[in-house]
Amino acid sequence: MKIQLSFEYQLFENAQQLDENLQKLLKASKEAVSLSYAPYSKFHVGAALLMSNGEIVKGSNQENASFPAGICAERVALSAASSFFPNEKIRAVAISYHNSADDSSTENILSPCGICRQSLTEATQRQQSHIEVILSNPEGKIIYVENADNLLPLAFSSDHF
Ligand code: THU
Repeated sequence: MKIQLSFEYQLFENAQQLDENLQKLLKASKEAVSLSYAPYSKFHVGAALLMSNGEIVKGSNQENASFPAGICAERVALSAASSFFPNEKIRAVAISYHNSADDSSTENILSPCGICRQSLTEATQRQQSHIEVILSNPEGKIIYVENADNLLPLAFSSDHF
């Protein structure tokens, strides 16, 4: 038996194609890029979460000379959201980057790493509602995904144990 999994996403040429709230969120994720501490990879990532009370929570990647100790922007933002707004749902996440090792590297649209996908999926399950995802590149192009869960098909979850 073959089973096919697929999902749709939208590709936008610029932020004007997003609704106003998501434009604001994308802007916040770009601001968060400047808070990144990434002296090793020089890859600066910013994430911003839109909470159900309208607040925006930012996170940026924080690296360490002991490389595994570093943490991605998305998980910094998710941890901050659970700490500061434990009772609010996350409506959307926007992610931006700047590659300071190569300023001309602006074409790729950032896509979250596997561990961050796992964390985003857990957040959707925990709050029992989906999280919209805005992925961007420095040129302004955007991928819009309706539900973070779509980024991790067949995800591992607590249902497995
Ligand atoms: N990084 C993030 O913060 N988010 C991602 O989705 C991908 C990767 C960080 C981790 C590390 O500090 C740097 O980018 C290079 O991998």
